[in-house]
Amino acid sequence: MKLDYSRMLSDRLDGAHGLPRSQLADLTGRFPTVLDEVRARRRDGEYGFYNLGRQDRTVTAIRRFAEGVGQAYDHVLVLGIGGSALGTKALVNALRPAAWNELTDDAREFFPRITVLENVDPSSVGGALRRIDPRRVLVNVISKSGGTAETLAQYLVVRAWLDEALGPDAASRHLALTTDPTEGPLRQIAEKEGIAALEVPPEIGGRFSVLTSVGLLPAALVGIDIAGLIAGANRVLERAEQESLLHNPAALYAALHWAADTWLGARIHVVMPYSDRLKELAAWYCQLWAESLGKRVDRRGAIVHTGPTPAPAIGATDQHSQVQLYMEGPYDKLVAFLRVDHPGEDLAIPGREGLPEAMAYLPGHTLGELLLAELESTSVALARMGRMNLTLSVPSLTAETVGELIMFFQVATGFAGAWYGINPFDQPGVELGKRLTFAALGRPGFSREPAPNKGAPDTVE
Ligand code: PA5
Repeated sequence: MKLDYSRMLSDRLDGAHGLPRSQLADLTGRFPTVLDEVRARRRDGEYGFYNLGRQDRTVTAIRRFAEGVGQAYDHVLVLGIGGSALGTKALVNALRPAAWNELTDDAREFFPRITVLENVDPSSVGGALRRIDPRRVLVNVISKSGGTAETLAQYLVVRAWLDEALGPDAASRHLALTTDPTEGPLRQIAEKEGIAALEVPPEIGGRFSVLTSVGLLPAALVGIDIAGLIAGANRVLERAEQESLLHNPAALYAALHWAADTWLGARIHVVMPYSDRLKELAAWYCQLWAESLGKRVDRRGAIVHTGPTPAPAIGATDQHSQVQLYMEGPYDKLVAFLRVDHPGEDLAIPGREGLPEAMAYLPGHTLGELLLAELESTSVALARMGRMNLTLSVPSLTAETVGELIMFFQVATGFAGAWYGINPFDQPGVELGKRLTFAALGRPGFSREPAPNKGAPDTVE
């Protein structure tokens, strides 16, 4: 994994924008304090995800479960939301061949198909239940707290569907619950009904949990090398101990993003993989960055309303959609490109008799070459327009490199929390909406609260 941050620096851009080397020196000078803070908070029990680099027993247990129970099914249906769904989608997207569910059993090497239901939109849930055979499905209900309304509602719908098709006893053998070891409604159900259940370590927050049983079980069920994911994550954790900012890539990524936001007005942090296989990873990262760093108060309780806005894009597609804005719009963005040096599969662009001259440059190249040429050209073009960008490269997409990418962004988010001076592990801002939903659905103990706008709504048709 390599981080190229040259095009963040003002002497590599148009001369007027970007980070002056003096400010980079300022960041490196301040880094020891940031590192000390992260270490102190780790000692106090925060940053639990740092423990995920060594999980031999968990990996063995999950593999055993996947190889035993898992092989009896040909479809895995994951129910979860936020940190309990996005990571699994990222892993499947990056590490299983495209259109996995459409492949034959042979092409999938007899690993199951997988569907992740992360919303309560009845059309998605209804559509999935019409497509999936209840006799052949393993339903993995994932909720760290075990009490998330959307996931519990999905569970009740899916459970009724299983009960009706199989009868309640058989239905419970088609379920695996992933949740807190002792607390929450899902744990109660597992214990009461004797349903197989996996544990989410309590010290690890939802959006940092993809490398726990949350993401590892579904990944193992579809044949992803979960030991490889952990090995990759471990490599990043080792680098994250580097005392020097310029030798600590994840910490540097965080520092550059923080400086771009707070010193240079680049409040929008675009993540732009040039790989369709990293599209879901970009979505996962956006949740991690947004929910961790968007905060009303800082660690001392002062009101700060801080946090960058992450924005996903995909190359080369969004060159024909978003890049015009990145090139010529406000100087309020930092673009982080994700580059895969060797795409795994490549397709030669064939020649053809009588091609118009304007197409003759394409044959002789491959689609992979075109993609990487476009990445480099877009990066250079942005730099010439004074637009900060950086590139994070991996040699290819393997379990190890995807594990590295995941842990890289988690560590970076942890460091960014220290730079911003906020707690990256809570999410108080989503609680009010939850309370209002509970009240609207009549949950005992939750009463309706007044909306701030009094009187009739202002609407137009
Ligand atoms: O990062 C978080 O904590 C959240 O995004 C959660 O993952 C999300 O709210 C789902 O929570 P749970 O896994 O408890 O159902």
